[in-house]
Amino acid sequence: MCGIVAYIGPRDAAPILLEGLARLEYRGYDSAGIAVAAKGSAGLKVRKQKGRVADLAASVPARFKGGTGIGHTRWATHGEPSDANSHPHLDGAERFAVVHNGIIENADELRAKLQSEGVVFRSETDTEVLAHLVAAHAVDGAELEDAVRAALKRVVGTYGIAVLDAERPDRIVVARNGSPIVLGIGEKEMFAASDVAALVRYTRQVVHLDDGELATVRADGFSTFTQDARITAKEPSTVDWEEAEYDTAGHAHFLIKEITEQPAAVERTLSGRIDERFATAHLGGLNMDAREARAFRRVKILGCGSAYYAGEMGAQLVEELARIPAHAEPASEFRYRNPVIEADTLYIAVSQSGETYDTLAAVQEVKRKGGRVLGVVNTVGSAIARECDGGVYLHAGPEISVASTKAFVSTVVAFALIALHLGRVHDLSPADGARIAAGLKALPGQIREVLEQEKEIAALAAKYARHEGMMFVGRVRGWPVAREGAQKLKEISYVHAEAYPASELKHGPLALISPELPTVAIVPDDELLEKNLTTMGEIRARRGQVLMVGHTRPEAKFTEDVILVPRNEPELDPILLTVPLQLLAYHAAVALERDVDKPRNLAKSVTVE
Ligand code: AGP
Repeated sequence: MCGIVAYIGPRDAAPILLEGLARLEYRGYDSAGIAVAAKGSAGLKVRKQKGRVADLAASVPARFKGGTGIGHTRWATHGEPSDANSHPHLDGAERFAVVHNGIIENADELRAKLQSEGVVFRSETDTEVLAHLVAAHAVDGAELEDAVRAALKRVVGTYGIAVLDAERPDRIVVARNGSPIVLGIGEKEMFAASDVAALVRYTRQVVHLDDGELATVRADGFSTFTQDARITAKEPSTVDWEEAEYDTAGHAHFLIKEITEQPAAVERTLSGRIDERFATAHLGGLNMDAREARAFRRVKILGCGSAYYAGEMGAQLVEELARIPAHAEPASEFRYRNPVIEADTLYIAVSQSGETYDTLAAVQEVKRKGGRVLGVVNTVGSAIARECDGGVYLHAGPEISVASTKAFVSTVVAFALIALHLGRVHDLSPADGARIAAGLKALPGQIREVLEQEKEIAALAAKYARHEGMMFVGRVRGWPVAREGAQKLKEISYVHAEAYPASELKHGPLALISPELPTVAIVPDDELLEKNLTTMGEIRARRGQVLMVGHTRPEAKFTEDVILVPRNEPELDPILLTVPLQLLAYHAAVALERDVDKPRNLAKSVTVE
């Protein structure tokens, strides 16, 4: 969602804040703002406006001096994107500036109370409440951290915040509850941000705050404490993602960079995890021995959006390799339906960011009822990773583009490893285990082969992008591939895309088929090939165009638009069938001149309900 960055040290804060915000812009990009304070100068300097960080940077005057500052890039929740609703928000006397990620659930009630006390609000945001509350508690010589603690005690909701005080520019106070805050340790300077992406240019030494924790950040260090002012001990850790991973590295967009990084991402996901001797997968992070792994009778996978579709592929892999009933469900639905939690079900939460609020809430619901949850997560140390009882890190590298690609593929690869492991503690034979292990090792090279077809896929994308909508169909293993293909197309190109199981077409949606609604058919060369060809025939009989993604070229009567992908093992084929659909969506979005990395209305991490 939104992004926060803060700096305190000997340099001018503004350029560092603007640079950090540009790196965080993938998280939200409705509006942006910064506030700085300088020693010995009265008042805060504030610049905030609707629009992108680049527009803000262009509007910040050269004489915007001050070595202490906070910044924010926003994805609107309370109030439309506007200059007034942009962060930072100030109290009435303009002494305090606050930037905030998350949602203050009792904001209306607090606003009414403050208004009854004479406070005048200048925005529609929930965040402005925090600025006025801090001011209300900064009385009788209270320190900034005490005023912030007292303010937060009155707040119900989620937040990551940074607070600046014009009268105390020697410090910034930050706090976390459900929305990440990480401190960056520099040489006689300190940073804070909602995401390490904003920090890696300056430091790799970081400290992650826990929920309910606050920190006072000074140029020469920091101290952390709880809501009750108890001091907490924190150990810095080293970020292992490189600064270069946050650049487009000569690519036109992060999305195509991340698509082309997939062979390397998959290699990292697999690295050190295939056990050739026993034809299984070695996953130390699961924190369970073979006896425990055998005891589970069901697997339930929870995630949102593409993470849920990756979970559907994961469920398929678990059922096929381990013969344990497995099912994926949107975490956003699961958390609200008072789910039955069973002791012999293994719950697996999937999240690239590790921050998605609905997925985190689903994990908490399972744990509250005594269930065991593993995480399949990309971001090390993220909230979901920390909440789970164990799991598998993807090591796919940072994913910046809003549309998930390399994390999606690495997630399915991680599920293949989990399924292989569960299979081998059940009845998967050593020969089948070795077959899957070999298939996994072949994936990076085969993904490269698919990527080599980019030019041809771009030409097909240009041909199909001019239609108002597209249908995606697949059967069984091909069904989540179709769902993910439709998701990628709609979110970045805004072409309406609907996915259906190919078997269901004739039960309704066949009525939509016409020359104006082309279909992407996922047709691996498996036991369902003939059935899929029959579906394609039914579409052609209604004069529908078909773009087939599969292993074999069909007779011309079915279609001449075919994207062929290399064969792997049938269980792993969905991974390779997904890659051309990423390229198709990317090139459709480029052909339609969309803002590929920052599609309208979306943000990278959905940290609100
Ligand atoms: C993917 O292309 C989407 N932008 C979105 O569906 C995403 O997968 C979903 O919001 C879950 O995110 P997470 O993996 O960070 O939890």
